[in-house]
Amino acid sequence: MSSYAEFYRRSIEDRDGFWREQAALIDWQTPPQTICDYSKPPFVKWFAGGTTNLCHNAVDRHVATRGDQPALIAISTETDTEQVYTFRQLQAEVQRMAAALLSLGVGKGDRVLIYMPMIAEAAFAMLACARIGAIHSVVFGGFASGSLASRIEDAEPKVIVSADAGSRGGKAVAYKPLLDEAIRLSKHKPPAVLLADRGLVPMDLVAGRDHLWAALREQHLNAQVPCEWVDATHTSYTLYTSGTTGKPKGVQRDTGGYAVALAASMKHIFDGRAGETYFSTSDIGWVVGHSYIIYGPLIAGMATIMYEGLPTRPDGGIWWQLVEKYKVTVMFSAPTAVRVLKKQDPAFLSKYDLSSLRALFLAGEPLDEPTAQWISGSLGKPIIDNYWQTETGWPILTICNGVEKAPSKFGSPGKAVYGYNVKLLDDQTGEELTSANQKGVLAIEGPLPPGCLQTVWRDDARYVNTYWSSVPNKMVYSTFDWAIRDEDGYYFILGRTDDVINVAGHRLGTREIEEAIASHPNIAEVAVVGVADQLKGQVAMAFAVLKDASPLEDPQALLKLEGEVMKIVDGSLGAVARPARVRFVSLLPKTRSGKLLRRAVQAVCEGRDPGDLTTMEDPAALQQIRDLVKV
Ligand code: PRX
Repeated sequence: MSSYAEFYRRSIEDRDGFWREQAALIDWQTPPQTICDYSKPPFVKWFAGGTTNLCHNAVDRHVATRGDQPALIAISTETDTEQVYTFRQLQAEVQRMAAALLSLGVGKGDRVLIYMPMIAEAAFAMLACARIGAIHSVVFGGFASGSLASRIEDAEPKVIVSADAGSRGGKAVAYKPLLDEAIRLSKHKPPAVLLADRGLVPMDLVAGRDHLWAALREQHLNAQVPCEWVDATHTSYTLYTSGTTGKPKGVQRDTGGYAVALAASMKHIFDGRAGETYFSTSDIGWVVGHSYIIYGPLIAGMATIMYEGLPTRPDGGIWWQLVEKYKVTVMFSAPTAVRVLKKQDPAFLSKYDLSSLRALFLAGEPLDEPTAQWISGSLGKPIIDNYWQTETGWPILTICNGVEKAPSKFGSPGKAVYGYNVKLLDDQTGEELTSANQKGVLAIEGPLPPGCLQTVWRDDARYVNTYWSSVPNKMVYSTFDWAIRDEDGYYFILGRTDDVINVAGHRLGTREIEEAIASHPNIAEVAVVGVADQLKGQVAMAFAVLKDASPLEDPQALLKLEGEVMKIVDGSLGAVARPARVRFVSLLPKTRSGKLLRRAVQAVCEGRDPGDLTTMEDPAALQQIRDLVKV
């Protein structure tokens, strides 16, 4: 048996022994009493009885041994700034932020919502929350008022940490007006807002509610805020993600299990070592940013690069320039970014010394073969695809090079990762598919390993009903992805089983987009589907039925309407969710019982056979869409 096969087998068959060993990778104030308590499936408690702190493991414990080494490297090609914080300096900044939050009334278990661009203060805020046992909820800075409002309402934060603006392509993008509007829309009103003023756009401050970070920082310059030791099962954060319904789910994460899972993944998967530099190009608003910009690398004692800016500005060599300058050893990005770079001058890849780099990890969306071939050939380094979800917090499928250097296969993220009891199941019967190359739902048998979601924030029933009840006759965790496994145990992901789409690696719910579009006064109903796109993987396409159909005959009026709808989506959800096109039809394809045939619409848009349409109410509806996309 190969060493990885043995490693994997042990993680499943001697679960407690395996994870007891991994638990030694982090510092505990009190060691765990039990490794895995699975007495109330599907809820699991990892490392119960143990007390620890994420911020201690990410920052404080390194101060003694590597206090003067870089910890956080905040780079913005938008504002032309570069600031390196050592572990000691990071500890000081985090204590100032922690003191500021405490002074605003934040206590253990309180929520702090973070709506920030990719600036160092965002990292301070996340770590400061972890330090005092507050629960952070980071909302992606690209989301607009509607998305933000629903998250504020669900998280009920005591404080919101934000900034005057982000910046994209050299243009300031004001955050504060979006935040004010979101607070206006939300039933929950946060008592305090803490704002980093970057001087990019003027801000109107609300007296008594809004506080400037610079002023509070000054007051707490010498703050000493010790880490609050919390139970391993204490909630460290929530992070909202899209699913089948319009309402985003608050994925809730623990502390001890997450710290152990990340520390183990840094060793066995990413093979990153203390004192080196890690560069993840994601955003702190996504799960990759939580696990592999902030917590994972820092827990491993690595410096981490936080990058604000485009991969192509000032030129297509910027990321490689940073790899050279900071001797990056491990890099993490998404296939879409690689496809963007592929359009740049190939000379950028040979211009810099990339000898420090050991591997490039890619995740978040399918890695197509041409993209993989191109970047692997150009870099001459291992390209490691990894498949996972906001819910799991760390990879489910990949090649664990830290355990055994194994070959990868194009189109496959790899094998089941240690700790995950991965199964392929028949979606109709729930039966396990054990032969090679059968298509099934990718599922995980409980207990989920450390680091995965504890539940859906304040909604245990939704957790059980959504994730653990979707496969017939079996209580297993469904990933909602189709997959096959080949004879060597490599998995291939074939797309979602639900209405989630993946645009440039950003996970979006088609229902959320439909709800935003339906708020237009002249839209009666709408169907949004994800359609294959060469650059972004998928784009959203909308087909809408008008209340007053008179514009249907007037191309100019339709263009105007399309613009209005896009503006609504931009304003409510953000430009990330904007459909590539909004087309207008007189009716939508539905079954006789009134169910929207999204799969058929998607197939037609992609030029594929829509399959069995015997249940369709009126074939003319699909024909209209066929005619529209042909043009
Ligand atoms: O459909 C799968 C796709 O992205 C979904 C999870 O997205 P998110 O919650 O944003 O988490 C991203 C964490 C990297 C999955 O259900 N997905 C993610 N990684 C891959 C992928 N599809 C194919 N290949 C991947 N490597």
